[in-house]
Amino acid sequence: MPTLRSFRRPLRTLVIGSSGAIGGALVDLLADCPDVESILACSRTAQPQASLKATPRAMDILDEASIATALAGVERIDLAIVATGHLHASDGIQPEKSWRALDQAQLLQSFAINAVGPALVAKHVLPLLPREGKTVFAALSARVGSISDNNLGGWYGYRASKAALNQLIRTLAIELARQRPRALCIGLHPGTVDSTLSRPFQTGIADGKLFTPHFAAKRLLAVIDGLDTTSNGQLVAWDGSTIAP
Ligand SMILES: NC(=O)c1ccc[n+]([C@@H]2O[C@H](COP(=O)([O-])OP(=O)(O)OC[C@H]3O[C@@H](n4cnc5c(N)ncnc54)[C@H](OP(=O)(O)O)[C@@H]3O)[C@@H](O)[C@H]2O)c1
Repeated sequence: MPTLRSFRRPLRTLVIGSSGAIGGALVDLLADCPDVESILACSRTAQPQASLKATPRAMDILDEASIATALAGVERIDLAIVATGHLHASDGIQPEKSWRALDQAQLLQSFAINAVGPALVAKHVLPLLPREGKTVFAALSARVGSISDNNLGGWYGYRASKAALNQLIRTLAIELARQRPRALCIGLHPGTVDSTLSRPFQTGIADGKLFTPHFAAKRLLAVIDGLDTTSNGQLVAWDGSTIAP
């Protein structure tokens, strides 16, 4: 059972992308956490939740009005996790292996879902973080968004949009620190996790390196609980290590 002892308790939490593999596991774990009072579970289609602590709300992160509507009446969020993301389309469109595959619509879709959406969510959620005590706004990013770690190439849109997300997080973190000295705005790398997003790319993953969503979510909550403001603005991995930009 996860704990969130570094926060002022009980926590009011928000998970966006609750229909996803990692987002759904985060909602389940937060529901089991005795330190958590409530979870606002947002996904494009509001989904019934097993726990009475969880309230489903519809939210499309590409539609700012729907972000505002989903958060209407919410007074306080202590921990928010954006677990949305896009790597490939269900219609068979795959991440670009070569510059020959670069396509305006595909690139714009990656940037819209992976960078612009989480930034607009931050615009509406950061003002809801209390000014006192530890609070966290986290967005799931990816190690491949690290420019210094890019030795393989490929996946242009996903890589570039996650790099943009990491820069947005860093910029939001600097502004946030001026108003809320104990707040954190961070990116999280969950490891390689079994999900719809990763499924076409799972061949060749070494034994033990493909995490279940439950394991990844549990690690991410433990990492979040252990962080202090020295990590503000950084991309932090499932094992607690910091990933260079
Ligand atoms: N799985 C991995 O190996 C891995 C590795 C590194 C980083 N990550 C990151 O982890 C995050 C979660 O990925 P996952 O593996 O859990 O993938 P997933 O199961 O495919 O979940 C993706 C989620 O994003 C939501 N979403 C997409 N577009 C949206 C929109 N416009 N508005 C609201 N929600 C939207 C999806 O909602 P719908 O159900 O409505 O489509 C779904 O809930 C992503 O940011 C991903 O880049 C994953």
